[in-house]
Amino acid sequence: MRIRGLEWKDFPAMVDTYFALYDEVQTDPEVGISLFPQKPSFADEIEWFASLFRSVHEGAAVAVIAEEEGRAVGHCAVRPNSGPESRHVGVLGLLVDQKWRAKGIGRALMIEALAQSRGKFEMVELSVFATNAHARRLYESLGFRRWGTLPNGLRRNGRYIDHEWMVLQLSPPAQGAGPSNR
Ligand SMILES: CC(C)(COP(=O)(O)OP(=O)(O)OC[C@H]1O[C@@H](n2cnc3c(N)ncnc32)[C@H](O)[C@@H]1OP(=O)(O)O)[C@@H](O)C(=O)NCCC(=O)NCCS
Repeated sequence: MRIRGLEWKDFPAMVDTYFALYDEVQTDPEVGISLFPQKPSFADEIEWFASLFRSVHEGAAVAVIAEEEGRAVGHCAVRPNSGPESRHVGVLGLLVDQKWRAKGIGRALMIEALAQSRGKFEMVELSVFATNAHARRLYESLGFRRWGTLPNGLRRNGRYIDHEWMVLQLSPPAQGAGPSNR
């Protein structure tokens, strides 16, 4: 397995991996990524990828790829929180192709993405399905702590799932900031 930066050529494999979740959820209702009611279009994905690629190119975001057999089989991206005064917070997303899971790829992707996030973000946040035990354990083992749970925050096919938020502090808040200094 090779961990490397995002390249233009990764687009088709990344879309395949993402679109496959819409089939996977039919057999595994626990799939731990929030999905749209309808699979997005290929054009939507082009926009998503171009925006991520641009953000990485500009140095605003981090995107790391796991390559196997010459093809992207997983990725981890950390993008600035979209809030105008929350740009110091990175938002992490992680996805590994079903065929390649439980082989250490997710962990390797996160370790590299978090290393690259240091100096770029003060903290990294993520959200996770409360039912996604593997992902939660992975995040905890890398130092993330849960800061909140929205009970029934997700609804999939009429079934409610608790939505959890976790955070990893990468650097101390700047002097003078934060409620503890008021
Ligand atoms: C969650 C996900 C990214 C983890 O990636 P992965 O490559 O499967 O994870 P790893 O192989 O690095 O395993 C991470 C930890 O979880 C455990 N784990 C993962 N899958 C497991 C499984 N099927 N059975 C038992 N343990 C498992 C591993 O033991 C490992 O712990 P360790 O390093 O202490 O041994 C991947 O399963 C995935 O893409 N799932 C679908 C999308 C998703 O849920 N994304 C997360 C959104 S918050």
